[in-house]
Amino acid sequence: MGNEKNSIESTVHNTDSYLQSLMLTNPLQEPIFRRAIHALNLPQGSRGLDVGCGIGLQALLLAEAVGPGGHVTGVDLSPEFLVYARSIAEKAGISEQVSFQEGDMNNLPFDDATFDWVWSANCAGYAPGEPMPLLMELARVVKPGGSVIIIAWSSQQLLPGYPVLEAHLNATSSGIAPFVEGTAPELHFPRMAGWFRRAGMEEVTVRTFTGDVCTPLSEEMRSALAALIEMRWVDVGAELSEGDWAEFQRLCLAESPEFILDIPDYYAFYTYSMFRGRVRG
Ligand SMILES: C[S@@+](CC[C@H](N)C(=O)[O-])C[C@H]1O[C@@H](n2cnc3c(N)ncnc32)[C@H](O)[C@@H]1O
Repeated sequence: MGNEKNSIESTVHNTDSYLQSLMLTNPLQEPIFRRAIHALNLPQGSRGLDVGCGIGLQALLLAEAVGPGGHVTGVDLSPEFLVYARSIAEKAGISEQVSFQEGDMNNLPFDDATFDWVWSANCAGYAPGEPMPLLMELARVVKPGGSVIIIAWSSQQLLPGYPVLEAHLNATSSGIAPFVEGTAPELHFPRMAGWFRRAGMEEVTVRTFTGDVCTPLSEEMRSALAALIEMRWVDVGAELSEGDWAEFQRLCLAESPEFILDIPDYYAFYTYSMFRGRVRG
């Protein structure tokens, strides 16, 4: 019983801290997602699915893009996230145009050809294992001629002046995650165009969206970057040299007096890559 309680508490705690990091880093993501969605030129009044919608932040942007005649369904494995998603949609006054449903992207709870398009941000592109069944499943629920869109974080430069430390951090398991050393090269996210084609999709395109940040940093942006740095390189101590570890603690910990975000000429950039394919008509 004690263990059960601990496990519930730890789930709640993990969900809370994950939610907090999604909210905190949203100022970095939202402008990129707005630009990406604008570039998609989704048909007004269309109906779409947001796979791995989390707390629904992009479902709202997608609903805005398809207009009042359209609709977006968000699907996620986590019922806790969906509770937040519903309340965020309600507060935004957009609950009529979005709905949220629990489900697994590998076995979507929808009939064939239900949606005009499927979008997945930071989820389907990072799925572990064999990508083909997942892509076929996403394409299954899209009408012929509709789109499958997969977008995910693809790179960053966050430590200006410290390229060697940053290269070493990016070479750790956390730095290359969700890729795992030893995985087949064609399963690396930037090779996604090949999966789309193998899944029978046409007109496969890719676009890169860049975000940049420069001093002076607003409080909101500073918190977003601090959360990002914390999320980006986790438990890296054992994989770094002593010198790199000391440098990491000096520059990358928010409580350090020499935290990198406090340098007067701080500048960072990061990229998202968006793949799109058309389901054969
Ligand atoms: C990194 S979050 C991204 C959330 C949101 N799309 C964003 O970019 O802010 C990944 C989300 O995918 C969900 N997820 C992971 N595996 C899933 C699966 N098999 N089916 C549906 N959702 C899944 C997680 O619960 C989580 O909400």
